[in-house]
Amino acid sequence: MKHRRLLVLAGVVGVIALIVSLSVAAAGSKRAAQPQVAATIGAPKVPNAAAIKKKYGGQKITFVGDSVGNGHVRDAALAKRFTHDTGIQVTVEPHSAASDQAYSQLARAFSEKSSSIDVAMIDVVWPGAFAPYLVNLKPKLGKQSKLHLASIVANDTINGKLVAMPWFGDYGILYYRKDLLKKYHYSAPPKTWADLFTMAKKIQTGERSSNPNFAGFVFQGNAYEGLTCNALEWIASAGGGHIIDNGKVTIDNAKARKILDAFRAQIGKVTPTGVTTYQEDQTEHAFDNGDAAFARNWPYQYGIGATAGSKVKGKFGVTVLPHGASGKPVGTVGGWQLAVSKFSKHPGAAIEFVRYMTSPPVEKFDAITNSNVPTIVSVAKNKAVVKANPYLKPAIASVSRVTRPAKFLGTHYNEASKVVYQGINQILTGSSSSQVLPQIKSKLQQILKSK
Ligand code: GLC
Repeated sequence: MKHRRLLVLAGVVGVIALIVSLSVAAAGSKRAAQPQVAATIGAPKVPNAAAIKKKYGGQKITFVGDSVGNGHVRDAALAKRFTHDTGIQVTVEPHSAASDQAYSQLARAFSEKSSSIDVAMIDVVWPGAFAPYLVNLKPKLGKQSKLHLASIVANDTINGKLVAMPWFGDYGILYYRKDLLKKYHYSAPPKTWADLFTMAKKIQTGERSSNPNFAGFVFQGNAYEGLTCNALEWIASAGGGHIIDNGKVTIDNAKARKILDAFRAQIGKVTPTGVTTYQEDQTEHAFDNGDAAFARNWPYQYGIGATAGSKVKGKFGVTVLPHGASGKPVGTVGGWQLAVSKFSKHPGAAIEFVRYMTSPPVEKFDAITNSNVPTIVSVAKNKAVVKANPYLKPAIASVSRVTRPAKFLGTHYNEASKVVYQGINQILTGSSSSQVLPQIKSKLQQILKSK
């Protein structure tokens, strides 16, 4: 009952949030993503298509898919191929670009038992919350799931049921301008956040004379799920824990306060004031437009910057994120899964679509055209894939991964993350961490208690 109420509430908040997010995204989108990327390589053909056609041809399904970077272009190309080969009509609807708002959209549909969604992409932090509404894929896709990283399959398995199939992974990385490092006599990217701030300041001061829009460092500072991911990286890389550790709220500690205040001090200095409204797309646009020396983002940004015609093609590199004085580099685990709704009228056709979308050839296609992290081990090691995605090299890919505290929060994760990102956004916009962290702590404790 409690859960149902939560979902309804999430739905209402979601409508408002969606409108806000669409206007934020529109305001920040200086240019459209580059559709030619996915179009240049053909979507792989569907294996066993004749048999699928015989069984499900003519059925219509809706896939709620990606909207960040070139994700929608990829989804549309794959869906078109799937329809061509199997006769199953797939309508692709991009979800909200902000993960937590996409959550609210799905939560609303599930609470209404709506059959309007057949397949949905779900964030790595959602399987626990959505499990009751998702089809167990184990009987049909259990064998294929064995090709995927066991840790992600385990995350997608709730009470023994495979509620989603891994689709692509994610971890935070640092993008840096190689040409500008050279110009300002730096031989390597920064190792610590303090180094990054110093380097960003020097480069920004120099570049501003010819480009008044130039910023030292950009990241996802808007009050949304992406900020929880960024803040976790700052805090964990400074030795300040993982927001909740062993079921206890740990976010209010001296190391966390120090690193958060250090970030606050850079707003309006080496990062533009507007960073507190940036999501992934705005970050990518600033960097790929040649307006930033450093950016924190997920791997999908690599492919866009490396595309012919990009202003930074050949000029940038990627590496692990910097760390705090007493910490080590980390990257927040992100990533997406594909799930089939229990309310789907065509679960058989939907499962075949998920089988195709999470198969090795499609993951290879996605990695090469869209620089997304494969969840299939053999694809991640494939030579052509590694060549297109240097962040897969062990020096970067083996970075310590930190996870958001979803396992302690279950259905309350989104509510708790909202407390975190709203509080951190307050810090970035001027409040001191000694004022905000105790408030975050007590709200998180209440949420944990109410579970
Ligand atoms: C990326 C990650 C996802 C995360 C989101 C936050 O899409 O894959 O896990 O929640 O960014 O913006």
